[in-house]
Amino acid sequence: MRNVAKLCAFFLSALFAFFSFGVLAADAPARGAALERAPDTMQARVMGCAACHGAHGEGTDNDYFPRLSGKPAGYLYNQLLAFRDGRRKYPPMNYLLAYLPDAYLKQMADYFAGERPPFAPPAAVRVDEKTLDLGKTLVTKGDASRNVPACVSCHGAAMTGMEPAIPGLLGLHADYLSAQLGAWRYGTRSTVAPDCMGQVAKLLNDRDITAIAAYLASLPAPANPVPVAAGSLRMPLACGSVHN
Ligand code: HEC
Ligand code: HEC
Repeated sequence: MRNVAKLCAFFLSALFAFFSFGVLAADAPARGAALERAPDTMQARVMGCAACHGAHGEGTDNDYFPRLSGKPAGYLYNQLLAFRDGRRKYPPMNYLLAYLPDAYLKQMADYFAGERPPFAPPAAVRVDEKTLDLGKTLVTKGDASRNVPACVSCHGAAMTGMEPAIPGLLGLHADYLSAQLGAWRYGTRSTVAPDCMGQVAKLLNDRDITAIAAYLASLPAPANPVPVAAGSLRMPLACGSVHN
């Protein structure tokens, strides 16, 4: 219950910031002079995002909301389209992005991709050593006996992602990571076909997901957070969301 109340408060303050800074004014000039007068800078546009994601997309001390900064622009853009068009579900985000035009979403994606705020230190580990080891093995080597590909084969050896559309997986909370893998497994998150992450997630069981999420969330900030160059990894599966 407390969490729900906290979420509602976040959402309301974000909505207030979003609309009071006239974010929609640029794309709907007929909305009236009062809104049009607000300066349409990128800083004003992302005010409504800051309550949950931080002013530079660094994340907040909430233990679910994801870091956005430094992820490849193509990845962030795909997510904004997915929330707007319903392939990803989180009502506050679906609501905020409804009706925003592609070009506008692209500019926000470019903004957060270019930000490089420091990473927060990893949270305390909540699982035992054996579980952490399983997570490490799946991430770095996969499990050939079950056809699970190593996560590093697409997300990069340092887990910083690959341009233009594969995200880094560091600096995210364990709860967020496990929710995303669960969402793919159950079909509430999807990407354009072929949905390689859907295929990967459906090979994982609950224990794998707990282990992977705990391991990834335990890792320190990467020395060089920049995603690797497009086409520099040989991906084991085709991904419809990735166009090199
Ligand atoms: C009320 C809090 C809240 C607000 C306001 C909000 N977000 Fe989010 N955002 C979230 C949460 C929570 C998720 C993860 C949802 C899920 O479980 O899929 C998310 C996910 C995202 C993602 C996908 C991240 C990833 O790594 O896949 C992007 C991109 C994003 N938000 C951008 C924005 C932008 C841009 C704004 C402002 C226009 C915004 N968000 C406003 C809470 C918020
Ligand atoms: C064949 C390539 C490929 C492999 C292998 C792969 N991924 Fe992914 N992953 C992707 C792509 C592409 C995306 C972006 C999907 C989208 O646009 O929503 C992604 C996104 C993700 C996300 C979402 C991150 C966020 O910020 O919301 C998570 C979590 C993830 N992968 C975890 C894993 C794990 C764990 C493994 C190993 C078990 C793995 N991936 C293996 C290609 C891959």
